[in-house]
Amino acid sequence: MTDANQRSIDRRKFLRFMGGGALALSMGGGSSLLLSCATSRGGNGKLIPSGSDFRALTPSDEDVLRLATGLKYRVVARWGDKLNENGLTFGFNNDFLAYFPRGKGEGLLCVNHETPDPLFVSGYTDDSKSKTIEQVRKEMDATGVSVVHIKESGPGQWTVVKNSPLNKGVRGQTPIPIVAERALMGGNTALGTVGNCAGGVTPWGTYLTCEENFDLFYGDVRFNKDGKRMFLSTEAFNWHNHFPQPPEHYGWVVEINPDSGEAKKLTSLGRFSHEGATVVTSTDGRSVVYMGDDAAGQCLYKFIAAKKDSLHEGTLYVAQLGTGRWIPLVHSQHRTLQSRFKDQLEVLVRCREAAALLKGTPLDRPEDIEVCPKTKAVYVTLTNNRKSGNLFGSILKVDEKDADPLALEFKSSTFASGGSQSGFACPDNLAFDPRGNLWMTTDMSESVMNRFPYAEFKNNGLFYFPLSGPEAGRGFLVGTAPKDAELTGPTFSPDGRTLFLSVQHPGSASKGLTQLTSHWPDGGKSIPKPSVVAISGEFLDKLTAI
Ligand code: FEO
Ligand code: CA
Ligand code: CA
Ligand code: CA
Repeated sequence: MTDANQRSIDRRKFLRFMGGGALALSMGGGSSLLLSCATSRGGNGKLIPSGSDFRALTPSDEDVLRLATGLKYRVVARWGDKLNENGLTFGFNNDFLAYFPRGKGEGLLCVNHETPDPLFVSGYTDDSKSKTIEQVRKEMDATGVSVVHIKESGPGQWTVVKNSPLNKGVRGQTPIPIVAERALMGGNTALGTVGNCAGGVTPWGTYLTCEENFDLFYGDVRFNKDGKRMFLSTEAFNWHNHFPQPPEHYGWVVEINPDSGEAKKLTSLGRFSHEGATVVTSTDGRSVVYMGDDAAGQCLYKFIAAKKDSLHEGTLYVAQLGTGRWIPLVHSQHRTLQSRFKDQLEVLVRCREAAALLKGTPLDRPEDIEVCPKTKAVYVTLTNNRKSGNLFGSILKVDEKDADPLALEFKSSTFASGGSQSGFACPDNLAFDPRGNLWMTTDMSESVMNRFPYAEFKNNGLFYFPLSGPEAGRGFLVGTAPKDAELTGPTFSPDGRTLFLSVQHPGSASKGLTQLTSHWPDGGKSIPKPSVVAISGEFLDKLTAI
């Protein structure tokens, strides 16, 4: 699961079967510690091989967004900022970002809003009372996607165009059609999109937003050996008390046209805790989508589209790392699937079951994925798995046979491992800059951050990885997050001179509005606000010029 909004989820994290007997889903815990004896701490504090003489940061536990010399930031949009005259405001807990240029220095920034922290969004803090429908509506309106019209008035000086007709929201109350071969739980329209974590961009200019921890909003379903469906309730955000929805309507990749706001849920890409959806184009013009299921012991997937310019139809595969094969999750090709599921849509809805039946490799929480534009190597963050004793995570590298995304065979290796020796822990998001360097953000949960065995890493960070030269593969810390926050959604402007970045859940360990742990970004006694920043400066300018 995500580490975002852990404070509110920790209080209410347990799930229970309704009418099916009690079932505790534990977060695991008691595991051996993988402590490294190495002492190099990666590139932290060292000169950065970037074409200039800038030095990497050392870890920080301050309540600031600290950047390496040569980088500066400005806040582009904060939670609650007014976007239009109809009451649309910028949502909470911004995560994935994608920039769609619309002329020079002007474009649409699509932003995911993963979760609403009730303390700040709805004021719901007393677990002994029920959340009111008004409180649920406030949370629904702060969750989903914002499309924001932004302009650059000078280098890195990005601002939102207030009241632009291009500003729009696809939120928790927006009706969204489901693209499926038949009706799904009685209908093919879902109420809103939830748990919007990372995502992707298609070659035809649409935005993909991924529904990750959907079970926190409307619960989930499980099926027993006889195929009997059981509802698994949730006490996390608890929206289903006022808006009961079939959990099968969530856990999908949602495709949004950033110009029209038109959205649709794509069942073809399977249903699980979708972290992101990274699209590359094959030599024959079809799209291939790489996806991780961010839960302990879940799998890596890829989807090969059947036709150009559409993700409606195609084949979904699960990765088997031991054999180096992509296994098709296709009902008509496997007796084992036919004996468990009635048709292909059922395979897609119960994707985790199908992947386990066909022996997809369980991984340590696969999160973001990026494909190197030069080598076509696929980089996958495995953030951690405290259940199995993997505390610091790693970055997995997948090399498709002949560097062909259509290949059904691959080799895998570890590109980098978290820990003392590398100076980072819990990798989450990845991004390539236009020169082919890799950037990475970390996501240590605020419940463990600055505590043993994570204390040495201090707050979450932004890292830069050269992929060539003598320091290839070494991570350099170039940004540190405010208290409790994770840095997410790194994405570059087309000229590479701006790095858009989300600062998500600052102050999420606050126990109340009078016990705030962060006041970022406004300082003083202000409440913390998740915000999107634009990072620019000489470091990026020189990086693009050399
Ligand atoms: Fe929303 Fe797996 O991070
Ligand atoms: Ca994470
Ligand atoms: Ca993530
Ligand atoms: Ca990414």
